[in-house]
Amino acid sequence: MREFRQQFPFFDTSTPSIYFDNAATTQKPQCVIDAIEHANIQQSANVHRSSYQLAASVTDAYEAARNNVAALINAPSARNIFWSKGATESLNLIAHGLGELCLAEHAMWQGDEIIILTSEHHANILPWQQLASKLSHFKSLRITPVSPDFNGNYDYAVLRAAITNNTAIVAVAHVSNALGCVHPVAAITQWAHQHNALCIVDGTQAIAHIPVDVQALHCDAYVGSSHKMFGPTGVGFGYATHALLDALPPYQVGGEMIEYVSFDEVRFQSYPLKFEAGTPNISGVLGMGMAANFVLQHQAMIIQSEHVLMQYLLGQLTVLNDELAVTTEIGLASTNNIIIIIGAQNPERISLCSFVLNGISHYDVLRLLDKDNIALRVGHHCAMPLMQHLGIDGTIRVSLCAYNTDTEIDGFIAALRSAIKRLVSSDDVIANSRAFDTSSVAFSASTPIGDQFAALQGYDVVFRQIMLSSKACPLLSEQYHTADYHVAGCEVDVWLGQFAGQFYGFANSKIIKGLLAILLEKANTLTPSQRTRFDFTEYLAQLGVSHHLSQSRVDGLSRVIARLSA
Ligand code: ALA
Repeated sequence: MREFRQQFPFFDTSTPSIYFDNAATTQKPQCVIDAIEHANIQQSANVHRSSYQLAASVTDAYEAARNNVAALINAPSARNIFWSKGATESLNLIAHGLGELCLAEHAMWQGDEIIILTSEHHANILPWQQLASKLSHFKSLRITPVSPDFNGNYDYAVLRAAITNNTAIVAVAHVSNALGCVHPVAAITQWAHQHNALCIVDGTQAIAHIPVDVQALHCDAYVGSSHKMFGPTGVGFGYATHALLDALPPYQVGGEMIEYVSFDEVRFQSYPLKFEAGTPNISGVLGMGMAANFVLQHQAMIIQSEHVLMQYLLGQLTVLNDELAVTTEIGLASTNNIIIIIGAQNPERISLCSFVLNGISHYDVLRLLDKDNIALRVGHHCAMPLMQHLGIDGTIRVSLCAYNTDTEIDGFIAALRSAIKRLVSSDDVIANSRAFDTSSVAFSASTPIGDQFAALQGYDVVFRQIMLSSKACPLLSEQYHTADYHVAGCEVDVWLGQFAGQFYGFANSKIIKGLLAILLEKANTLTPSQRTRFDFTEYLAQLGVSHHLSQSRVDGLSRVIARLSA
């Protein structure tokens, strides 16, 4: 384990101190970094074009990388593998090609239904939605999602029953990026094939964590991204059966994917090169080839270590939940489950755990964990339909990798405990003055909210003032928490409305509600033309609250600012 972690230079640096966002991207081992560097220094020539020695040897290395990926997923041959920018592009390529075939009256299916799981990543929903929309004047094709229960657990008998002779395509994730459960794709493929439907599998979250054997799965296609399996970003692959690859038309056209071109005629290369127009991401492919080798070499250890880590995490979350549930000191009802793991009953899962906190916004927890240098993702995880189905606005997702440690889990649990206590106690900051120095914090209903930040110094003091300000946010009442007033964010959603010239807002996050209170107070004192000239972002910076915001667009507040300025 220790030797495994030592192969990742990322851990030689200290920021972030705990990295639990491996489902978003994994770290890269030295051998992959070296392969990319070597590719850029020693192997900088184009592939499949020139025949001088260097170009020939780079082409060999490029094709060897294809062999490595084929070996990793037990594809029948390297020809079954095409390179892409990542799983998203591979899925788009397949869906687009299937649509072209259908338009050319060579449809590879009979039915008119695409079955997907409600928990699919947007990358395995949108290409199918686009396909259905593109074919809408020509052929009816509708998406039928199969949903988990309200605990996030699937009844696969329901999925099986949903696949009928009317099914054209079944598109499923091997592992859910939002919940971590492993779906029985071998069985799902069998059900699809019994009804002459295609089965396309998004393997993005599986490849680095469980063995994948596409021949045993019998799926028609399987896609993955390099950066989720220790490789570089911007490169991925698609596997498909010979029959599917042969039938699919090129996704893009251009250099090196042709056999012959004149102004009257074009003949494409056979697969996989017909899918690889233009100069590919050569160093990325070579890095990915190394990453595939790396996974194969360490697979048994990865599976074993991640299982042990996951059991430890789940155990520690249970202990923390039990501890918090009986801690009346922080005001939580003793019978409540504070930590609710979604999809917990699925016995087949990778080392990924999604949970919600009863009555506490995941965004607020994230901001506190981030301050402790803990990296993880919260929000909808690019699975908005799942969140809508579960009736939640997101989860906290811990995604572990074999290089993580028990000590990091302990650090995370300690930080989570502290964040929860802090967020609950901030409802009554003054009463809980033991834990935090609140001497400089107080909230005055008569002083403008913005002015109350003027003299404050230090993260904790400013944080608590934001919490207090949240109570003064002019609240948009619940009847307006609808699509018309919704400001979408990736990590947290906001609702904003204007009535009789005054803005009202709402967010589940107390931090965002506190920041809304500051922004709306200012906006409500300005005329429309003053508002368009006012720099709300700078205003937050002047008040010293900017570092309580995400640095990117992910929290929805930057879109609120855009609306206030519009
Ligand atoms: N698909 C990646 C995730 O689940 C980005 O976080």
